[in-house]
Amino acid sequence: MGYKAPMIVLGIETSCDETAAAVVEADHAPVGRLRSNVVRAQLATHTRFGGVVPELAARAHVEVIDAVVMRAMDEARLSFGDLDGVAATGGPGLIGGVIVGVTTAKAIALAADKPFLAINHLEAHALTVRLVEPVEFPFLLLLVSGGHCQILLVEGLGRYRVLGTTIDDAIGEAFDKTAKMLGLPYPGGPALERAARDGDMARFRLPRPMTGRPGCDFSFSGLKTAVRRAIETLESPSDQDIADLCAGFQDAVGAVLVDRLANAIAAYRALGPVVPVLVVAGGVAANQALRARLQALAARNGLDFVAPPLALCTDNAAMIAWAGLERLRAGQSDDLAFKPLPRWPLDSLAPPVASA
Ligand code: KG4
Ligand code: ZN
Repeated sequence: MGYKAPMIVLGIETSCDETAAAVVEADHAPVGRLRSNVVRAQLATHTRFGGVVPELAARAHVEVIDAVVMRAMDEARLSFGDLDGVAATGGPGLIGGVIVGVTTAKAIALAADKPFLAINHLEAHALTVRLVEPVEFPFLLLLVSGGHCQILLVEGLGRYRVLGTTIDDAIGEAFDKTAKMLGLPYPGGPALERAARDGDMARFRLPRPMTGRPGCDFSFSGLKTAVRRAIETLESPSDQDIADLCAGFQDAVGAVLVDRLANAIAAYRALGPVVPVLVVAGGVAANQALRARLQALAARNGLDFVAPPLALCTDNAAMIAWAGLERLRAGQSDDLAFKPLPRWPLDSLAPPVASA
């Protein structure tokens, strides 16, 4: 193959509430190697507000970015001169944070005379699995996190087709808002899953938005509203009431995911002979109950179910470094004039389809 090996890339991620830096390496093997993966969460900064405060996030990124990058380099036992490229999340995300990461990566790239790569955060989530598993293109991807909820056809590097997306809340956002309503601590997703374990999922009849309809789009805001109405009918909700609502909510979300994904699998199969793999990524992939349902759905449809390890599912910089490496070895890099993008739809990376 016509690229340098081993190839080593530093990645920086600052688009939400994690300040992260990582170094990945690849030779001609089908998967890469993680040399370091440093994630500094800002949980303490945002917990008392029950959610991420963009201004505070940006300031916290500025304060720790240098230390986080240096730790990633130290753990990888490398200096900037050993790198083949420097990648940072270029969007989409909270713009103040993205600017911090992009500026840092550009400065390192300029000083060390290395290529700079501005990475689409969603593309990074989409490609992460290939760092750890030899998954070939094309594959079907369910991306479920606090900011995103999409079903993607990953056709190749830079070629992503959005099969379905949320028309209101992202799935993790729905978990977080519902958990907050129920008085559970932030971040709500894991707390809600824990509470649901002791709950009766059949007690409250909650809606399953979009199910039974054609297409693969999602909607979660009606479900969230239904939970609020259900709480309002209770005088002073007991722990058991909360647990039952959590179980009902999680079951409804699972039903929505399975229904939408079943349509996506049918569309995927209709493309012809495709790689029979369903990949799941994003923080919500940590949910064991949802994971089990997705795994069963994949098995029923003859697909392998592949989920990157949890530390690579939630926001991290290894995925940014890896997407940078995949692009660099395909001969791509970006101009230092690149401007951070608060919005950056993934299908806009794909070359425009010629109209007939
Ligand atoms: O991928 P991620 O770390 O960051 C974003 O890009 O958003 O995902 C974080 C989201 C949060 O909304 C969090 O509540 C949710 O993932 N999450 C979960 C679980 N663990 C994390 N949702 C449901 N069940 C979980 N166990
Ligand atoms: Zn993310």
